[in-house]
Amino acid sequence: MGIVIRSGEVVTASERYVADVRLDGGSITDIAAKLEPKDGDETIDAAGQYVLPGFIDPHVHMELPFMGTVSADDFEIGGASGAAGGVTCYIDFCMQGKGEPLPKAIEGWHAKAKKSAIDYSYHMAITDFGPNTAAEMREVVEKHGITSFKIFMAYKGALMVDDGQLYEIMREAAKIGAVVTVHAENGEAVWHLQQELLAKNCTGPEFHPVSRPSIVEGEATERALAMARLHGATAYIVHMTCKESVQALQRAKLLGQRCYGETCPQYLLLDDTVFDKPDFGGSAYVMSPPIRPRHMGHHAALWSSLSNRMLDSVGTDHCPFTHEQKKMGVSDFTKIPNGAAGIEDRLVLLYTYGVLGGHFDLNRMVELGSTGPARIFGLAKKGSIGVGMDADLVLFDPKGERSLSAKTHHSKADRSVYEGFSVRGRVARTIAAGRTVWDGQNLTTTRGAGRFVARKPTHFAQHAEVKP
Ligand code: URP
Ligand code: ZN
Ligand code: ZN
Repeated sequence: MGIVIRSGEVVTASERYVADVRLDGGSITDIAAKLEPKDGDETIDAAGQYVLPGFIDPHVHMELPFMGTVSADDFEIGGASGAAGGVTCYIDFCMQGKGEPLPKAIEGWHAKAKKSAIDYSYHMAITDFGPNTAAEMREVVEKHGITSFKIFMAYKGALMVDDGQLYEIMREAAKIGAVVTVHAENGEAVWHLQQELLAKNCTGPEFHPVSRPSIVEGEATERALAMARLHGATAYIVHMTCKESVQALQRAKLLGQRCYGETCPQYLLLDDTVFDKPDFGGSAYVMSPPIRPRHMGHHAALWSSLSNRMLDSVGTDHCPFTHEQKKMGVSDFTKIPNGAAGIEDRLVLLYTYGVLGGHFDLNRMVELGSTGPARIFGLAKKGSIGVGMDADLVLFDPKGERSLSAKTHHSKADRSVYEGFSVRGRVARTIAAGRTVWDGQNLTTTRGAGRFVARKPTHFAQHAEVKP
């Protein structure tokens, strides 16, 4: 039994047209001006709605062990929260423990992720590059179908890699055709700034952004891109927040380097006045890199980079913690778990503030939130609407207006960084692998119905400045 979606306006990264779309057996089987339902088919009237490819979140952290606690959404709840926001697939970060072989870490991550109701994949985070890691990287790509890695240039003493490791990881990734995703902040500089602030008794959440100025992000972005260029590796800079970092990416792109940049809605829409909130309220906004001041031009640089195609993708960095968890840092901002919820809000925020705000059109919104991540990370059957593609779709109703709130989102986070934000349009239905997982009002997810998506490597060395 299939589903026929009638008379919606199909929007892909490059096209807009009104059509009927039929789904069966988890795939899109027909697209035509008029389709006759087959026996037993369900029919959905989508007149007046947009039919979008399922949104893909390339940057989330479900049940992440981090800063002495674990992020609040597990794979079931986090995935379901995404479904309510039009997400049909996400890429989590599988974390290597200290001294842990990479394949062992993947085993542990599969055990946690199998309860996801929607499809998922992983970036493999390398936190401890040892003598066997290069060989394990090849195994991760060839045997496990994980074709992207992650390095943290920050979080000294925990996840941070040094320049030698950065060099080795870029070198190997270029050989095996993998993308290296990078958290770009100079972790040494951040650590020193943190110690200096604490020594002056500056302990509140408002000092978190002071300890991580934009120059430390710009410098690390430049360094990561240089190391990638040296080896001809493909780098993808995650959660970019500032003009220094965007300019570094732009310079690399203009040199012909294959590299990508991601930002997140929080960096486009929030500014550092959020840290003025009383009663430790600013802790909800503690994430790294930090929310930036508006007067410095960072927000404008990010928005224009989305319109002029210097940035390639919008993720969320969904990594929620409850207020109770944030209180771990009540007398020391460096101990506040970094991160916030976002997987459920990205599509409506991009539509309201990106499309209706005049920064880009609907096609570009689809490209940033679905097609771009699918192409960059090799999710071959996702990110577009065409016969043979996965039956992952969003029916988006552009009518109506509402406010975002932690009271109505599905994440376990008890505060929302978008509390009270007014948004236009709503996700009227999310269909993942041919099944409705969100009907516009309620979740209809099935625990464990999501599948791990294995990928093939495509980013082999290009224009290396040294011979491998
Ligand atoms: O503050 C953040 N971003 N938390 C999640 C971990 C990371 O750095 O992406
Ligand atoms: Zn990060
Ligand atoms: Zn992250």
